[in-house]
Amino acid sequence: MPCPSRSDELVFFVNGRKVIERNADPEVTLLSFLRKNLRLTGTKYACGRGGCGACTVMVSKRDPTSQEIRHFSVTACLVPICSLYGAAVTTVEGVGSMKTRLHPVQERIAKSHGTQCGFCTPGMVMSMYTLLRNHPQPSEEQLLEALGGNLCRCTGYRPILASGKTFCLESNGCQQKGTGKCCLDLGENDSSSLGRKSDICTELFVKEEFQPLDPTQELIFPPELLRMTENPEKRTLTFHGERVTWISPGTFKDLLELKAKHPEAPLILGNTSLGPAMRSKGCLHPILLSPARISELNVVSKTNDGLTIGAGCSLAQVKDILAERVSELPEEKTQTYRALLKHLKSLASQQIRNMASLGGHIISRHSYSDLNPILAVGNATLNLTSEGTRRIPLSEHFLAGLASADLKPEEILESVYIPHSQKWEFVSAFRQAQCQQNALPDVNAGMRVLFKEGTDIIEDLSITYGGVGAATVSAHKSCQQLLGRQWDELMLDEACRRLLDEVSLPGWAPGGRVEFKRTLVVSFFFKFYLQVLQELKKLIKPFPNSRRYPEISDRFLSALEDFPGTVPQGVQRYQSVDSHQPLQDPVGRPVMHLSGLKHATGEAEFCDDIPMVDKELCMALVTSTRAYAKIISIDLSEALEIPGVVDVITAKDIPGTNGTEDDKLLAVDEVLCVGQIICAVVAETDVQAKRAIEKIKITYEELEPIIFTIKDAIKHNSFLCPEKKLEQGNIEEAFEKVDQIVEGEVHVGGQEHFYMETQRVLVIPKTEDKELDIYVSTQDPAHVQKTVSSTLNIPINRITCHVKRVGGGFGGKIGRPAVFGAIAAVGALKTGHPIRLVLDREDDMLITGGRHPLFGKYKVGFMNNGRIKALDIECFINGGCTLDDSELVTEFLILKLENAYKIRNLRFRGRACLTNLPSNTAFRGFGFPQGTLVTESCITAVAAKCGLPPEKIREKNMYRTVDKAIYKQAFNPESLIRCWNECLDVSSFHNRRKQVEEFNKKNYWKKRGIAVIPMKFSVGFAATSYHQAAALVHIYTDGSVLVTHGGNELGQGIHTKMLQVASRELKIPMSHLHICETSTAMVPNTIATAASVGADINGKAVQNACQILLKRLEPIIKKNPEGTWEEWIEAAFEQRISLSATGYFRGYKAFMDWEKGEGDPFPYYVYGAACSEVEIDCLTGAHKKIRTDIVMDACCSLNPAIDIGQIEGAFIQGMGLYTTEELKYSPEGVLYSRGPDEYKIPTISDVPEEFNVSLLPSSQTPLTIYSSKGLGESGMFLGSSVFFAITDAVAAARKERDIAEDFTVKSPATPEWVRMACADRFTEMIPRDDPKTFKPWSITVA
Ligand SMILES: Cc1cc2nc3c(=O)[nH]c(=O)nc-3n(C[C@H](O)[C@H](O)[C@H](O)COP(=O)(O)OP(=O)(O)OC[C@H]3O[C@@H](n4cnc5c(N)ncnc54)[C@H](O)[C@@H]3O)c2cc1C
Ligand code: FES
Ligand code: FES
Repeated sequence: MPCPSRSDELVFFVNGRKVIERNADPEVTLLSFLRKNLRLTGTKYACGRGGCGACTVMVSKRDPTSQEIRHFSVTACLVPICSLYGAAVTTVEGVGSMKTRLHPVQERIAKSHGTQCGFCTPGMVMSMYTLLRNHPQPSEEQLLEALGGNLCRCTGYRPILASGKTFCLESNGCQQKGTGKCCLDLGENDSSSLGRKSDICTELFVKEEFQPLDPTQELIFPPELLRMTENPEKRTLTFHGERVTWISPGTFKDLLELKAKHPEAPLILGNTSLGPAMRSKGCLHPILLSPARISELNVVSKTNDGLTIGAGCSLAQVKDILAERVSELPEEKTQTYRALLKHLKSLASQQIRNMASLGGHIISRHSYSDLNPILAVGNATLNLTSEGTRRIPLSEHFLAGLASADLKPEEILESVYIPHSQKWEFVSAFRQAQCQQNALPDVNAGMRVLFKEGTDIIEDLSITYGGVGAATVSAHKSCQQLLGRQWDELMLDEACRRLLDEVSLPGWAPGGRVEFKRTLVVSFFFKFYLQVLQELKKLIKPFPNSRRYPEISDRFLSALEDFPGTVPQGVQRYQSVDSHQPLQDPVGRPVMHLSGLKHATGEAEFCDDIPMVDKELCMALVTSTRAYAKIISIDLSEALEIPGVVDVITAKDIPGTNGTEDDKLLAVDEVLCVGQIICAVVAETDVQAKRAIEKIKITYEELEPIIFTIKDAIKHNSFLCPEKKLEQGNIEEAFEKVDQIVEGEVHVGGQEHFYMETQRVLVIPKTEDKELDIYVSTQDPAHVQKTVSSTLNIPINRITCHVKRVGGGFGGKIGRPAVFGAIAAVGALKTGHPIRLVLDREDDMLITGGRHPLFGKYKVGFMNNGRIKALDIECFINGGCTLDDSELVTEFLILKLENAYKIRNLRFRGRACLTNLPSNTAFRGFGFPQGTLVTESCITAVAAKCGLPPEKIREKNMYRTVDKAIYKQAFNPESLIRCWNECLDVSSFHNRRKQVEEFNKKNYWKKRGIAVIPMKFSVGFAATSYHQAAALVHIYTDGSVLVTHGGNELGQGIHTKMLQVASRELKIPMSHLHICETSTAMVPNTIATAASVGADINGKAVQNACQILLKRLEPIIKKNPEGTWEEWIEAAFEQRISLSATGYFRGYKAFMDWEKGEGDPFPYYVYGAACSEVEIDCLTGAHKKIRTDIVMDACCSLNPAIDIGQIEGAFIQGMGLYTTEELKYSPEGVLYSRGPDEYKIPTISDVPEEFNVSLLPSSQTPLTIYSSKGLGESGMFLGSSVFFAITDAVAAARKERDIAEDFTVKSPATPEWVRMACADRFTEMIPRDDPKTFKPWSITVA
């Protein structure tokens, strides 16, 4: 029994080393322990909720029953250290390192170009490593499953999968699935201008170079732990923390006694339910009972009529147990098991399934639980134990939490009994989530029907739904009323009516999507109806009354199939370098990211990986909970009393300027949005700082008007800046002469950057001359430096900003890091201590804003042949509460709106709305991805009216010859046309369009859509001063070279490209060259690394510096042409030749005269085209991406691996924008979606099943370094090809159902949108609410 005062020693192993923790705190997670106590910073924090996989590590434990050692991946952010007693943990550092030996997983992910920013990489490595520990030659499906819980925001996943596939059982090699041919042998490609086969490479890495996987080299399970499990400790172990005590009994008896003594104490198993609740809802449990050592909870027993599974088994184990049972038993007995298995495949991620227990899952009774609805209909029972034992059904009453049907406080769930199904019984599971994998379901269901033997008469029926109420809901009444009915259409109709009546969902229901959920309630039942009908047909055939079963037409069978998870395949084509290019010259070759191996070993240091500095303090931010209000008072007293709290920084502490009049760093008298920073707590630890912010009391007085939506902003004339307008031709006159006019509206939702590394900064004040060192994750260190200077009122020259690398930026780390840097600097100045500020994911998403939501109205006039004569577009973007980049975004939006089309009469207008939301800011593509969706929507609307396919309209209106853009800048669209034609060619577009039409004729409930989209993307800033860059190159006396330039490494590989440039210029191998960091002390006055020109302008500066140096070395080389580089450098030093040079690039002239509507705003264009094909499920709104082909004009790529990586990553990010990423705000302006569970960025299973990227060869641009092009942003918009393929499929469904083909375009095309757009008898059936009668759960701000 526990001793109340003394903690036991916590013993576990990390990377083969024993850890003894004498004061283990139950509130400390493994992630925090690894990073802070053991300084193993390879394991990253990115969400803290188990939703991103960045913190994945492997845990190994010996199973007390089987005695086998289990290796499983977990998310360290949810693992309390106290749960690790007797376990061995392996982190990325334990797998391999640059200093000792690289593990093949690490080597291959880096060399396959699977790392960009590298922040997700250690997690990816650990997921793959764990898979290989269990399956040295896994199948591709296992690989996909293992990586399903690891998010990557940069790569688009394809190269990560490619590295993993090298371990898999040999795949057929051919990437063109189903054709039986290799992609390069396809006849259609022979004539392609993608080049002669010999010039085209499809390999980005050389597989043969990889070291083999040798499982014998892995860390062994520590013998000491083996001994511990052979003689398991029976004593109760107790760990006392500051607020929580962890008690881990060694016997079942002790557990029961403890539970009786502490009935209020929860059992802690996987902590995947308790952990997030304790974190986000602040639930504190002073005592936690851990049954981790109780083997009775892991017992599995098979009987003739069912299966009993211990409540302590993990969901991953449950999956294996069920799979085994399914393989052993006849099909009729395993209906429930197969339904459970179906959901276990998509429930959460591998890591969560490894951690979460069956008992924890059942007892948590989440309304979204994927298993409870099936267990309930499958008549599962719960075996409870306290002093005695008893059985209760897992019934609707249990699920609703009725005391009479629930566990008593002292009871424990020991095991779950799941009976076999029987003949004439059918069980099915349904689920629809925002995306297929790693997403909580919107609605799920378990359905079971039992027929009177030999008939179709319903003897028993149970249906339960999840996601449609506070708990899993049973449609018990409806089911009762249907007993005795025949399984036919009449029953279906009645069942749907009854279900909708019983499972009623109010219009304001939490979680929103109410009409969609109602529709799913009946759509799922319809699927069940068809499934059962199919089965009945097979069974009843021999019976005389079988005539009653008309064949289900093949067209309707498409309702039945789910989209299976498919392992993506694809080809990447690029032009090989000239055969005469010296081998040493790396330009144009697929060189690995400079930090690739360091990313993969966890040795790459990010801002928060910098070791704690002397006297360092932590900062946490206090933000507004009101959208527009006067601050009446701020009471800091309670917060200041919390132990460890040092100070609270308010606006009064700012010695210099507090931001600008309209955009304050810290709020003064009023707040303009929820999430605005008001003050900041400084404390000894981050935990103390976070606890203190809860104690700060702020009183507000609401102000009016509060504006959130674009519609309201227009109504209140609330704008951030004047309208931006471009016009050409005579639009009014043109509208009078056209055959037809269409008007429409387009809504494009915003987007969260979701860089994996949240905003973070470390400010170190120096003792002398007010100097400060700032380590910050930013795209624009000079801006941080300047802002800190004006905030502290000290000259810029005292402040040095250092950027080693950034864990993803995408525009979100241009403006905001300066705010965090400045606030932290005020804290550092006031306290005299170094300050570390690391935003947690929730705060990052709440505070920082993202891509501007857009509302567009268009009027387009055209001839019946599809030729567009006049186009009038007016766009409004939701800028949020301050100007930030909104005016620039509006300008770019307007400048780029014409995309690839030559339309004589145009009018484009744009305005940025001032609303009470966090300020929106720069985001990859800078307005182009939103605006151009309006333009392309016009094209589809015109196509629908003309009865022509959209690609014909696109072709007809595309720029063809040298011409001028709307702002009168001349350009040659030759590469645009080539990309378009190539894309049509490589994708076999026209054939596939026909196949899509055929498919759609044959399938009623599934529809396919295909779309091809052209792109003309202008790179650069529309201002000359932004096109400059500097570099500093030092050659040291040993011949090694240090290169510094003004660009920041965000994952886009700029440092790699810069060294490729330096290597070519200095004619030395890259191994001689090094880049340490970007520092404002080395290269001053830098420009933000943005607008796709980072490598262009900095490359020219590096080239310039190297050329200067080489010129100086020329006489020496001439004198000793056979000498070595080292000898020349030595000689130069002897001769007092300076070995350091500054390079400078005085870049392109770019200007725009908005008065005249003329200018030369962009240095050049990137052209491209993408074709995507999808299939949608009209009943659920789900879609699968069948294939995408991208052709991009990269000219002479500096590094095809990096450039293809940028294209793929941007494409997948764009696909997220247009399909799954949905920001939800409350009617009070509070952002709900503040983590990976509510905000769905694409996962590995969202990658198109076939994903091909080709770089257009033989294209040149005179302006840039070695004729390369900047590709950072352009791929984003090509993600819209998926959006238009979805709308194409939706249009096909609507056409067949005789509903108007033109509909309001809304992005993202979520399952909700798709389902509701494919209106049918089920959408007609659902009750509709009058929006005026209730307050909705969320509002639409676009
Ligand atoms: C990132 C993420 C994604 C997820 N995705 C999904 C999803 O897609 N679908 C889905 O259905 N679920 C999902 N979940 C929820 C997950 O299934 C549950 O959190 C999990 O099953 C709970 O199990 P646990 O062992 O972690 O419970 P814990 O958090 O350890 O405990 C939860 C509760 O159960 C009680 N308890 C546990 N065992 C017993 C017992 N033997 N006797 C009595 N009481 C007990 C505890 O007292 C506690 O109150 C997700 C969770 C996370 C973190
Ligand atoms: S940080 Fe642990 S899963 Fe995201
Ligand atoms: S490389 Fe995966 S998040 Fe950046």
